Amino acid sequence: MYTTTAATAFALTSFLTLTNAAVHTVSVGDGGLVFKPETLNPAVGDTVVFKLYPQHNVVSGSFSSPCQPSGGNGGNASFYSGPFSDTNNGAKKFVVNVTSTQPVYYYCAVQRHCQQGMVGGWNLPSSGNDIKAYASAAARVSSASTPSALAGGRLLDDSQLASVTASASQPSSSGNGRYVLPSVLTQIITCHRVQGLRIRIRS
Ligand SMILES: *[C@@H]1O[C@H](CO)[C@@H](O)[C@H](O)[C@H]1NC(C)=O
Ligand SMILES: *[C@@H]1O[C@H](CO)[C@@H](O)[C@H](O)[C@H]1NC(C)=O
Repeated sequence: MYTTTAATAFALTSFLTLTNAAVHTVSVGDGGLVFKPETLNPAVGDTVVFKLYPQHNVVSGSFSSPCQPSGGNGGNASFYSGPFSDTNNGAKKFVVNVTSTQPVYYYCAVQRHCQQGMVGGWNLPSSGNDIKAYASAAARVSSASTPSALAGGRLLDDSQLASVTASASQPSSSGNGRYVLPSVLTQIITCHRVQGLRIRIRS
């Protein structure tokens, strides 16, 4: 019985290590030409969920060419959500994996939204090539470009998204990590409670 508990404790530790990844949600065009939040600081292994509002989209770009898609060379993210019309009226979210610590800039490619300030980014510097500098450079661009097809992420409905968020934590506004236990783990704990064992989980 002790061996079982020790093995389970080891399994729990492995699970909890994996669940340190966070899910960040960015709304795209909710009530104006804005990404909310405008910038964020995800870690490698985190997931960013873009929730599109009509009729917006999100395209990753580079600082040096605002409102144009990034080339995708090297470690920088290169993604495009596809048009809003592919999201089942916003029910499907565009989900991107964070795979590097490099700054990632993005914009809405619809009409002149990018030039009008609809830009955002993650892990941007707080001065120099910051979000304000990207927005003011974007304002001078003659036209924005849209990639031909979805790239660099997945369009997921809520049930598909649940399986992503089940293995990750949702960061709370206060900054305290709130960890969501995978259902298999909940089952293990329930199972052991039935057997009269108590498992303590340390974070
Ligand atoms: C990735 O982005 C950063 C910041 O914009 C840039 O300095 C770097 O050259 C880019 N890397 C590649 C491989 O494009
Ligand atoms: C993101 O990560 C998930 C889980 O590891 C993987 O299944 C998916 O293919 C990745 N998506 C992209 C676009 O790389």
